[in-house]
Amino acid sequence: MRKTTAVAASAALISLVLAACGTGTAGGAEPSLRSHERVAVYTWWAAGVEKRGLDALVGVFEKQHPEIQFVNDGLMGGGGSSTSKEHLQSRLETQDPPDVFVAHAGAELQDYIKDKHIQDVSGLYQEFGLTEAFPKDLLDRLSTKDGKIYSIPSNIHRANLLWANPRVLEQNGIEPSAEYDSLDAFIADLEKLKNAGIKAPLSVGTTWPQVHLLETTLLADLGPEAYSGLWNGSTAWSDSRVTTALEHYGTLMSYTNPDRDELEWDAASAMVIGGESAFNIMGDWALAAYDTEDKAYGTDYRVVPAPGTSGTFDFLADSFTMSSGILDEDSAKAWLETVSSKEGQVAFNKIKGSIPARTDVDPGQFTEYQKTAIQSFGQDTIVSSVTHGAAVPISQLDAITAAVVAFNSGETDVAGFQAALGASAEG
Ligand code: GAL
Repeated sequence: MRKTTAVAASAALISLVLAACGTGTAGGAEPSLRSHERVAVYTWWAAGVEKRGLDALVGVFEKQHPEIQFVNDGLMGGGGSSTSKEHLQSRLETQDPPDVFVAHAGAELQDYIKDKHIQDVSGLYQEFGLTEAFPKDLLDRLSTKDGKIYSIPSNIHRANLLWANPRVLEQNGIEPSAEYDSLDAFIADLEKLKNAGIKAPLSVGTTWPQVHLLETTLLADLGPEAYSGLWNGSTAWSDSRVTTALEHYGTLMSYTNPDRDELEWDAASAMVIGGESAFNIMGDWALAAYDTEDKAYGTDYRVVPAPGTSGTFDFLADSFTMSSGILDEDSAKAWLETVSSKEGQVAFNKIKGSIPARTDVDPGQFTEYQKTAIQSFGQDTIVSSVTHGAAVPISQLDAITAAVVAFNSGETDVAGFQAALGASAEG
């Protein structure tokens, strides 16, 4: 346990002082837990399959730091949806921050840093030995231009994955082990499935999963370098490859379920699990949805790189920050220590579907899919996910999302879509 005796002693003293000042509960009962030895943690993994990973992490925290109370201070909202992000933002602005909150490593943190809502935690990298434990590439992605780090990742997720139901494919004469090297080949199979009577061969969920599908489509048609150029300004949004990608995107959407705007991402995964759809494009948090249903890798489901993207690892990381101006920094640090610890990363990632950010963890203890992800992360070209905060700041993602909504609701055509995406980059 890292909490020092001095810290523990001062904690006890503060509790006593607060109790004496009347901040504790009435009648000399327990001093208020709000004042000390608690950590309020904000995530959007508040329910369903997402909560199971968090529960595993909390289990390790309670073992490593039994003196500190964990408070689940989060709000449901897959992918850190706009509802959960807006709720968090209003808490930050009204000086009612959770002690720590999960965000995505990368550009998503820029505004929190600029507005001084979160603290520089570079010192904890030295203290917890993370500079050696995390891969250099990850440290580079976490660091700001001035070399500071503002969050500690619990994992690494891969976004560009195609999930398939092999039985549905076999029944319809499609080779279930196929990886698609192009979107055209994939679309040809979607058409076959549609003709065979599968109404929604490709399932998709509400807004952000539709942005996620756009991301993997852009990646397929532009390749990793030009895709990354969209976010660093070296690829023009007017590029003809973007036009091709947007046309492909429109075609892909035409094979999806009409009730998509009412479905969370996991309901879209459930359509593949249940055989209603053959395919879903989603990040590897979907593994938890298959595992929860006891589905077997290879027989009940297959997972391969999204069409046209093999050899590229579309990266994102859930990363915990420490809010500014909190009462009990020691408890927040203790949580961050658990998040970064070997034990914490193993317990969490085994369930979450992602891979540990640490490299000193035995890959043998993870699922078959995760072993492939560990290997791919080590050898593939890595690009940053736009839907999941790694590539662009929140305001730009909001503008991209608005462009996707307008296109999918028929308000804009491909040309209008392309122009709106171009405008999103200009701010
Ligand atoms: C991602 C997040 C994952 C998972 C997913 C679905 O943005 O990084 O951990 O929660 O959304 O909610």
